[in-house]
Amino acid sequence: MKRMLSVQDLARDERFERIKIEDVVFDPRNAVLPEDKNRNGFKVTDPESPDAVRQLMHGIFVGEIQALEGAGRTCYDFDTGPGADEVPFELKLDMARQCWDESRHVEISVKLAEHMGSAIGEFAEQTMLFEAACSADPVFRLCGVNRALEGLAIDVFNTMREFGDLTSDPVLFFSEDWMLADEVTHVKMGSDWLRRLTEHDPERRNRALEFQRTVDKIFSLGGFRGESDENPVHLARKFRRMAGFDEAEMDELVEISKQAQADAEAMATAAAEGGGAYGA
Ligand SMILES: [Fe+2]
Ligand SMILES: [Fe+2]
Repeated sequence: MKRMLSVQDLARDERFERIKIEDVVFDPRNAVLPEDKNRNGFKVTDPESPDAVRQLMHGIFVGEIQALEGAGRTCYDFDTGPGADEVPFELKLDMARQCWDESRHVEISVKLAEHMGSAIGEFAEQTMLFEAACSADPVFRLCGVNRALEGLAIDVFNTMREFGDLTSDPVLFFSEDWMLADEVTHVKMGSDWLRRLTEHDPERRNRALEFQRTVDKIFSLGGFRGESDENPVHLARKFRRMAGFDEAEMDELVEISKQAQADAEAMATAAAEGGGAYGA
């Protein structure tokens, strides 16, 4: 079987529509102008919130498929051994356990979509998660996927769990609660293996953490995740702590999110003044 598959090799049927990450990041509908800073699509008082939740959970559903594919590839792409281009057998066991969890998350997500009145393919699929799982260095995969993107999944599941509670929806609440518990384990695997594999190689550790920062910035999506009321998704500090994040790392994440929000606002204001895409 072929090693190191590219994103074009992923198997999808005709229900799936693929979209580029740039199209998501620069979608003018996501722009938050300074005057509607208080807009937050996941507030239960917002009449648009059910659609916002359906869209977010569809994004999570395709993320679960890619997380399964990525963890499966990491079991297979590397020989077992101590070298920088090899992985310990115990890491493969962790990735195999993750495959089992992600398959369960895919099944939960499909049933949850039906429960919420959505369906596979109602929204498009971007493949950033699998792309982050294609790095030739397994430590980069663990930082980009397990720590950055599954760290984001912790924040999303915690926020959606609260949404399920506030809307008295036990199906949403428990689906999020179960997936959240597994994601804490997956992020912790990322934190533990990063520390173990780079114990004597600070340069490799720094490069992997830089990759993690880049992925985090892209997925801060103009202030999507943060700690203030205007951020739709909140940083779940308690669960991140359990998953091996220290306070300085979480403070840095909040900073990255603030920067992403300021960048998006500056772009939105400039485009509105110039009559560009965001001003339309
Ligand atoms: Fe998952
Ligand atoms: Fe996961």
